[in-house]
Amino acid sequence: MPRFLFRFLATFAILALAQAVNITETATFLTFSNPLVSFNILKSNGYIQNVVYQNTSLLGTFSGNAGQTYTDFPSAVFSLFNTTYKTYMGSDWAGIVFTDINPTGSTVQRSWWLRDEESGLHSFVRLGYHNSTGPALGPLGEVRTMFRPNPATGLWTHLITNREQYAPLPSTAALAAQVEVQDATWYIGATPNDSYVIEESEYWSKYFFSDNQTNQAHGLYADTPNGNKLGAWWVVNQKDTFFGGPSHFDLMVDGIIYNKLSTSHGGASSPNITDGFDRTWGPQFLYFNHGQNASLQTLLADAESYADPTWNAEFYDEIAPYVVNYVPTSGRGRFKGRISLPDGVKNVVAALSANGWALQDSAGDSSAYQYWEDVAADGSIDIGRVKAGTYRLTVYGDGIFGDFILDDVVVKPGSTTKLNDLSWVPESAGVELWRIGTPDRSAGEFRNGWEVDTTHPNHPHKYRIYWGAWDFVDQFPNGVNFTIGSSDIGKDWNYIHWSQFGKTYTRPGVVTEGVNIWQINFDVDVAPTADDSVGTLTIQLAGATTTSGNTGAVQDAWPFLPISSSVNNQAPFVWTITPQESGSCGVRSAISCYLLSNKFSFPGSWLRAGTNTITISLPPAAAAVYIQYDALRLELS
Ligand SMILES: *[C@@H]1O[C@H](CO)[C@@H](O)[C@H](O)[C@H]1NC(C)=O
Ligand SMILES: *[C@@H]1O[C@H](CO)[C@@H](O)[C@H](O)[C@H]1NC(C)=O
Ligand SMILES: *[C@@H]1O[C@H](CO)[C@@H](O)[C@H](O)[C@H]1NC(C)=O
Ligand SMILES: *[C@@H]1O[C@H](CO)[C@@H](O)[C@H](O)[C@H]1NC(C)=O
Ligand SMILES: *[C@@H]1O[C@H](CO)[C@@H](O)[C@H](O)[C@H]1NC(C)=O
Ligand SMILES: *[C@@H]1O[C@H](CO)[C@@H](O)[C@H](O)[C@H]1NC(C)=O
Ligand SMILES: *[C@@H]1O[C@H](CO)[C@@H](O)[C@H](O)[C@H]1NC(C)=O
Ligand SMILES: *[C@@H]1O[C@H](CO)[C@@H](O)[C@H](O)[C@H]1NC(C)=O
Ligand SMILES: *[C@@H]1O[C@H](CO)[C@@H](O)[C@H](O)[C@H]1NC(C)=O
Repeated sequence: MPRFLFRFLATFAILALAQAVNITETATFLTFSNPLVSFNILKSNGYIQNVVYQNTSLLGTFSGNAGQTYTDFPSAVFSLFNTTYKTYMGSDWAGIVFTDINPTGSTVQRSWWLRDEESGLHSFVRLGYHNSTGPALGPLGEVRTMFRPNPATGLWTHLITNREQYAPLPSTAALAAQVEVQDATWYIGATPNDSYVIEESEYWSKYFFSDNQTNQAHGLYADTPNGNKLGAWWVVNQKDTFFGGPSHFDLMVDGIIYNKLSTSHGGASSPNITDGFDRTWGPQFLYFNHGQNASLQTLLADAESYADPTWNAEFYDEIAPYVVNYVPTSGRGRFKGRISLPDGVKNVVAALSANGWALQDSAGDSSAYQYWEDVAADGSIDIGRVKAGTYRLTVYGDGIFGDFILDDVVVKPGSTTKLNDLSWVPESAGVELWRIGTPDRSAGEFRNGWEVDTTHPNHPHKYRIYWGAWDFVDQFPNGVNFTIGSSDIGKDWNYIHWSQFGKTYTRPGVVTEGVNIWQINFDVDVAPTADDSVGTLTIQLAGATTTSGNTGAVQDAWPFLPISSSVNNQAPFVWTITPQESGSCGVRSAISCYLLSNKFSFPGSWLRAGTNTITISLPPAAAAVYIQYDALRLELS
């Protein structure tokens, strides 16, 4: 289906023209145009305004920061300084590179490229820091390129994260009546007839429309009255210059369409900027499409059809001389492997990323690129267009605790690295007595996770909606008291283990009773008697939030969060989450943030025939702290 659309639109485009891109100039801007699209780019700062497609102004008029497409640096580690630019022309394309050189040693380069047959712009951003005597600039934090229409255009009617998450934009009237319930999160149920409220939720936040790095395209849809429906999309055609692997999630769209190059959201790490740092993100493709009566799904599918690293590879090779750090095809190779897989594993993924670093921490090596592909059922792995270099291979899948890890995998330019006798032996500490949940880096299988909200026709996954909509105290009047064999993880185990609950929009007070201590009950047939019998409790988390939030800073009462686990009331084991491991997760509509795992071993003799209990406790009444389980298991040797 997407392929068909691709061909259909391409044919349509080719018929419409056969001429190069034009650049015209005024005192303040350059206008780039081809027969499909035109835009102005300001000479002073490189910001794009007045994008015209289908005779329609897609950004609306410039006002404040709105009505523009631009890159900014909210963490202020880089900034624009003394902007200069240079244009380039090829036989069927034109491009512009803006360069900002700061006397402290930082360089910013932003470039945009327009081909004659495409209704979209290719984007690259380079950041460099070269100063052997200057200070380290610290974590890069947030850098993003935005398509930021002026809301006053009223053109855009829907926001789209991916195939399963989209909604009408709340109306001006709904936003005028909003009540803040949390940072950047509002109750808008005062306008019950608003389309967003009817279809999606009484709550509204940019967080609900986040996605992980499996995202292929995200954007805005215009349900125009004249029937010529429009789409604007960030097509994520290349992911290798991002960090953190497939589960790293970030904001996608909230009326602005984001291309997030670096962030610290959800516990993600961003690179430490030291002398010699030099990286170029991209390409990503800012794409516009349309169709008479086309649905948002149709326009999304068309945009997604370009989300392929081989798409336009020859063109990128052609402009590589003008895009510092872009690695052309001649600098890339292929990785092929075959791995024997553990029984029962599902959705197996193989990733190449920073050598010596966990996939989720790949930003620890700021020069590393990342790649991943699904592994076939027979264990074969095939990853193409890999930048030549030395990588860690990680193979992981649903249902198996622990990953397969192999360092020092070398990929050479123009050749294929083959490793055919890999074997993934799953970790084990004896006989498994029970497990709760599926090890899959996510708390989705638990109550209020991937469960859908059937009271709204969009059926959003509950984890995406403001957590206060799922009242823990009402749902778990006796707290969490889970019995192996009879309890149900989708009903009796919540997606968030809170220290305290509330307050929320509907619950004015904070509840501390029956919230912070969770209990697991299980039967053991025969008490272990061997002296060397060892029990092992594995607790794996999909995310944890201490009072450090996303900052990594030692702040407020619980920057270090102790999780205490006790077997049959024996002295508890304490596992402490550090500020660096903390990230805002469930309260910002995430279900898979930063994987953390710990094992506690104890004498098997602590178990007894009959009923046993394990309790897991967070400090009581500790404000904004919580954890989200991935999976737990008990083994006995
Ligand atoms: C480029 O400029 C030429 C000469 O002004 C004009 O004939 C042509 O239509 C323009 N092409 C585009 C794509 O705007
Ligand atoms: C744009 O407007 C011009 C003049 O109003 C018209 O000739 C042309 O057909 C329109 N193009 C599209 C794509 O709607
Ligand atoms: C700004 O850039 C121009 C052109 O590269 C250069 O000549 C000039 O010295 C720069 N000014 C500052 C203050 O860096
Ligand atoms: C290095 O950084 C220091 C401190 O910001 C600055 O004074 C110096 O000029 C920089 N040197 C270079 C070569 O950019
Ligand atoms: C919502 O729509 C219904 C039916 O059209 C109408 O009766 C009601 O007054 C509307 N409510 C508000 C708050 O506008
Ligand atoms: C990424 O998000 C998608 C859509 O929300 C979900 O289906 C998928 O399981 C997630 N993948 C990872 C690796 O987190
Ligand atoms: C960044 O690197 C510098 C220089 O190696 C080091 O001193 C600093 O601690 C690092 N900062 C972080 C946050 O890792
Ligand atoms: C678009 O929808 C309108 C109204 O439903 C319908 O009359 C028209 O025939 C449709 N046009 C096309 C090209 O499908
Ligand atoms: C927890 O469940 C067990 C097993 O059903 C039961 O014996 C115990 O009373 C429950 N505890 C609480 C506090 O509800």
